[in-house]
Amino acid sequence: MPLLIKNGRVLDPASGTDAMLDVLIDGGKILELRKQITATGSMQVIDAAGLIVAPGLIDMHTHLREPGQEYKETIHTGARAAAAGGFTSIACMPNTSPVNDNASVTNFIMHQARTEACVNVYPVGALTMGLKGEALAEYGDMKEAGIVALSDDGKTVKSAEVMRRCLEYAKTFSLPVICHCEDADLAARGMMHEGIVSTRLGMRGIAPAAEELIVAREIALAEWVGHPVHIAHVSTSGSVRIIREAKARGVAVTAETAPHYFTLTDDAVASFDTATKVNPPLRTQQDLDAIRQGLKDGTLDVIASDHAPHSSLEKDVEFDHAAFGMIGLETSLSLTLSLVSEGVLTLMQAFEKYTVNPARILNLSKGRIQAGGDGDITIIDTQAEYVMDRGRLFSKSSNSPFIGRHLKGRAAYSIVAGSIIYPFAD
Ligand code: DOR
Repeated sequence: MPLLIKNGRVLDPASGTDAMLDVLIDGGKILELRKQITATGSMQVIDAAGLIVAPGLIDMHTHLREPGQEYKETIHTGARAAAAGGFTSIACMPNTSPVNDNASVTNFIMHQARTEACVNVYPVGALTMGLKGEALAEYGDMKEAGIVALSDDGKTVKSAEVMRRCLEYAKTFSLPVICHCEDADLAARGMMHEGIVSTRLGMRGIAPAAEELIVAREIALAEWVGHPVHIAHVSTSGSVRIIREAKARGVAVTAETAPHYFTLTDDAVASFDTATKVNPPLRTQQDLDAIRQGLKDGTLDVIASDHAPHSSLEKDVEFDHAAFGMIGLETSLSLTLSLVSEGVLTLMQAFEKYTVNPARILNLSKGRIQAGGDGDITIIDTQAEYVMDRGRLFSKSSNSPFIGRHLKGRAAYSIVAGSIIYPFAD
């Protein structure tokens, strides 16, 4: 049935559109976009008065844990968490068990995505076999099976020589490379940011240099090989500076940060809440300010959730023993909208980081509202206020430091190929 979205404020960063327009979707595609489209009896109609109508949001950095750790998240539950958070497309990282380093794993993920997921799921393949940083994975086979990018996320490819080969091989398949930047020796056994708070708590720290060294290395390699790199989850002011300088020189580098890096500092770790244990770690106020500035001036192209579900087995333990990671699919949009209410970003800038920019980096024909384009839309109520409640999460995991927090702004509808997938029918 055709879907007509009426009376909404259409915000499309790709075309710079910010206007009151109606949107008609039919056969999975956007048919028309104009003022006052008249509803007919055969149409399903959404009254979007007072709401924002944006291209379906894309989260280019999610961990879905299937195959192998379905007790933390499955493709089905992760996709529902995504839809509830306003996402219509997600890219899932390869650190599953087994690792997505060959076409049979990619095929399995694609199959589960087709049969189990209510959003578009795009697998990311591993750079190296088993994420070991040694032998290169099967890029061509995985690309044929459906991967959209390559990454050893969770780990850095330790050897610069191997990383160089990864970039050269990725270039022959035109596959984007997403870099997890952390010098493993320098960061070894670190639990949190190295600074005053870690000293006070007596915890081993991770120096910002552990990230910055590898950011600089990946940029140098990208420049030499002539293939772009995308820097994942930027957490330090130094990384923002290095990326800004590289971009100014015309190097093909893009970058993302996650909402926790512009919302929380290492002070949050003093609670010993293991949900605050993430990799890279929460940093200082000065880093947080630099991340916000990097988002504002375009140094940071993308906001990605880095949704990293873990169960109580990995999190309800001593801080030292807890796994790194926090969930984020269901809080990213609200936390980003608070940057808008604080005047850090305009609405257009905020949505650019979830739509046209990730689509461009991953070469997806998504992230815009145009006639003939895919009918993926997110409708947002920027005024909706709520308290993040553990019982209302759709993710299987609840490792979030934002539970109990008062938030403002959330998805009212998520629409994939013209079908309303959120609010859920069941
Ligand atoms: O905190 C993190 N958790 N950072 C990563 O890079 C990996 C992720 C995970 O897979 O749990």
